[in-house]
Amino acid sequence: MSEQDGRMPDGFVWGAATASYQIEGAVTEDGRGESIWDRFSHTPGKIVNGDTGDVAADHYHRTTADIALMQKLGLGAYRFSIAWPRILPEGAGAVNERGLDFYDCLIDDLLAAGITPFVTLYHWDLPQALQDSGGWANRDTVAAFRAYTEVVARRLGDRVRHWITHNEPWVAAFLGNLQGIHAPGLTDLPTTLAVAHHLLLSHGEAVPVLRAHGGPDTQVGITLNLNHVDAASESEVDRAAAQRMDQRLNRWFLDPVFRGQYPAEALADFAALGAKPPIQEGDLVKISVPIDFLGVNNYFRSLVQGGPKSDGADDIHSVKVEGAHYTAMGWEVYPDGLRKLLTRLHRDYQPRALYITENGAAYDDVLTAEGAVHDPERIAYLRDHLLAARQAIVEGAPLRGYFVWSLLDNFEWAQGYAKRFGVIYVDYPTQRRVIKDSGHYYAGVIRANGPVD
Ligand code: FCB
Repeated sequence: MSEQDGRMPDGFVWGAATASYQIEGAVTEDGRGESIWDRFSHTPGKIVNGDTGDVAADHYHRTTADIALMQKLGLGAYRFSIAWPRILPEGAGAVNERGLDFYDCLIDDLLAAGITPFVTLYHWDLPQALQDSGGWANRDTVAAFRAYTEVVARRLGDRVRHWITHNEPWVAAFLGNLQGIHAPGLTDLPTTLAVAHHLLLSHGEAVPVLRAHGGPDTQVGITLNLNHVDAASESEVDRAAAQRMDQRLNRWFLDPVFRGQYPAEALADFAALGAKPPIQEGDLVKISVPIDFLGVNNYFRSLVQGGPKSDGADDIHSVKVEGAHYTAMGWEVYPDGLRKLLTRLHRDYQPRALYITENGAAYDDVLTAEGAVHDPERIAYLRDHLLAARQAIVEGAPLRGYFVWSLLDNFEWAQGYAKRFGVIYVDYPTQRRVIKDSGHYYAGVIRANGPVD
C-alpha cells in the first residue's frame, strides 16, 4: 500500500455484518426458545410501528440465496451472531441440536463459498428464561454464558477462526437497563453497572474456552461501540463533559479489557449516584485476558456540552452542528472521527489488531419501479469512512478489516423496520432482495481493495 493509491494493505478483510435477531425470523422453529427481544418487541409501545423480529429478513429460510448474494458482492468475510436461545432454549441445561445444526450448515456453506465466518456469540438476544432470574445483573448468567460458549465452541471451533464474544456491551447494558429503550427495558443504574460488569466478566471467561476448542490460529476478540468525543466548545464545562462522556462510553469498557481497571473518575461519578460495579476478587484479571483483536463499531462522533447537575439528571448533553449532515438515525456524518478513534485506540491501548466490525448508515431508501435503489448518500458515507480508515492505517493503526453494517436491511431494534442500513434492500412483503447502488459500489471497493474512484 502506498500513501496515495487509495488501496488497503494486502490481505485486508472485506466483510458485511448482521445479527441473529435482526435477520433470522423463524423465532419458534426447530426448538428455539424465547429471547428478551421477543418479549420486548411484543410488548406494546416499545418498537416503532409495533414491529417484531418474528419474520425479519427471513434469513433462517434463505441462507443459500443470501450467501449467493454475498458472493455477488465479493465478500471475503461475513460477521453474524448466534442466537443463544436456539442453542439452549432455556438458557442453560438441555442443548438443542437443531439450533447448532443451523449454524453448522451456515458455516460449511460460507466456507464452501470462500467466505470466512466471523462469529459473534452474543448480540443481545439473551434467553428470556435467564432474564426471569435476573439476566445479566445476576452473576450466575456469567457461568451460563461460559457453558453456552463451550457448547458452541465444541461444535464449531474446528472451522471458525474468528470469534467475537460480545457485541457492544455498552448498548446492551445502558440502553437496555438504564434508558429502557432496548430489552429488557429497565431503568436502574446499579442494575446497569452489574450488567456491564458481568458482560465483561463473561467475555474474560469465554476467551480461554474458545481458544481451548479451536486451532492454534484461533483469533478471539470483543466488539465495542466506540466514538471519538469532542467538546462543543473550549469552555471548561464542555471539555469536562467530553471527558466524562469518553470515560462512560469508551473507557468504561476499554480500560477493564486492556488495563484491568475501571476509569477512576467514572467510578467516583457513579458512586456519587449510589451505584458501583459488583467487582469480586480476580474479576479484572479475567476481564483483561489478552485478546487477539478489538472489534470497533463506529457510526458517528459524540459532540457534547456540559450542563448543570440536577437530581440524577445527566450533566452531559449531545449537541447538533448547524449545517452538518445527519443520517436517518439522526447521527452526524463525521468520517474524521473514525480516523481519530482508530489512531487513539492504537496509541492508548495497543491492540494486536483492529477490525471495524460495523460501520454504515441508514437512509430512507426507495425501491424504484425499475427495481433499483439509488442511495448516493450511503455511497458517500462509505467512501468517506473508508478513506478515513485508510488514513488511520497510514498513521499506524493495525486495522485488518472492515465490515459494513449491514448486509441486508433488517430489524433495527427500537426502530423496527423503519430504518434501513443494508447495502441490499429487503422488500419485506415479498422478501425480495435488491442490491442497492451502495452494494454495487462496495463490490467495486472490494475488487479494487480500497475506496479508489
Ligand atoms: C449497532 C448494533 C447493530 C445495529 C447498528 C445500526 O449498535 O450493533 O445491531 O443495530 O447499531
